[in-house]
Amino acid sequence: MRNSLLFLFFKKRLVNLKTFLYILPMRKEIAIAPMLDWTDKHFRYFMRQMSPHLTLYTEMISTEALIHGETKRFLDFNPKESPLILQLGGSEPQKMAYCAKLAEKASFQGVNINAGCPSERVEKGGWGASLMEKPDLIAENIRAMKEVCSLPISVKTRIALAEEEHPFDALCHFVKTMQKAGASQVIIHARKALLKKGFSPADNRTKMALDYDLVYRVKEQFPDFSLLINGDISTLQEVEAHFNHMDGVMIGREAYKNPYHIGQIAHEIYGTPLLERKEILQQMASYIEKENPARVLYITRHMMGLYKGTEFAKIYKKVLMQNTLKDILYFLNQVPF
Ligand SMILES: Cc1cc2nc3c(=O)[nH]c(=O)nc-3n(C[C@H](O)[C@H](O)[C@H](O)COP(=O)(O)O)c2cc1C
Repeated sequence: MRNSLLFLFFKKRLVNLKTFLYILPMRKEIAIAPMLDWTDKHFRYFMRQMSPHLTLYTEMISTEALIHGETKRFLDFNPKESPLILQLGGSEPQKMAYCAKLAEKASFQGVNINAGCPSERVEKGGWGASLMEKPDLIAENIRAMKEVCSLPISVKTRIALAEEEHPFDALCHFVKTMQKAGASQVIIHARKALLKKGFSPADNRTKMALDYDLVYRVKEQFPDFSLLINGDISTLQEVEAHFNHMDGVMIGREAYKNPYHIGQIAHEIYGTPLLERKEILQQMASYIEKENPARVLYITRHMMGLYKGTEFAKIYKKVLMQNTLKDILYFLNQVPF
């Protein structure tokens, strides 16, 4: 039945092959990584213009901040950002469950537990990368969250802590524990984490070696459980190579620095339309007008990379620095593309 439907679709050219691959349940995923201070709601709205099919993440929000801080602001997003996942930092099951419930009420599509952040502040709080050593505690959190909310609960982690002598076994045990607890997915940043005074999260992103191969081998042990790979992925060729082994990829810095490139990659993979840069800028001008025309830079600071790699990159950045909607609209009317 399914095969004959497929045949009919292609014969009648109702959809092209890439689009059909997207709507099949086994579609490979491209997610944009949670990044503190970067993936706020304005960046996410901007990033959504690149493709309807990217999974987007909030910045990491601690349970303390969400419960006792500006709850409404943290949960605020534009429906067009969906599919959007809320990333939580925390390790107390009751608080995590409460926050998961808030996420469900606010219409997020999922909740992600941060079990990979190597910052000292986070380590002191007893969550982030230090949770890698406590998979049972994460499992307890997942179960508590699933009891009160029906959203998928995923986990973002690294391969293991730096001192781990058997990282393959440790990661297999970690993933198995998450799967058994009912997690929907594990995202693996393909590096170990070194928790040491003075060794910053940035050092942890740049000075620790990548080991994609180990992550691939772990995936082989879990053919029916969704595993994404993350770390220094930036080209279509790299994405396709990872797709041969994994259920998808998560991309961080390249998406922020060169967002349109991610749009081009998604377009190649899924075959869905890609707006011209100028059209994206037009969309963003309307968004700025509605959202916050008095504080344009809050939004445009995330848009600096739109023309990266083109002859207009420099002038475009200069225009955004002018910090007024009028300048952006003037630029829009001048550019010959
Ligand atoms: C500025 C910045 C902030 C980050 N904040 C978070 C965060 O809030 N939560 C998280 O899980 N990872 C965070 N990360 C790590 C990224 O999600 C990602 O794992 C890392 O950058 C590696 O992916 P990439 O090489 O594609 O950038 C952050 C990374 C950067 C550069």
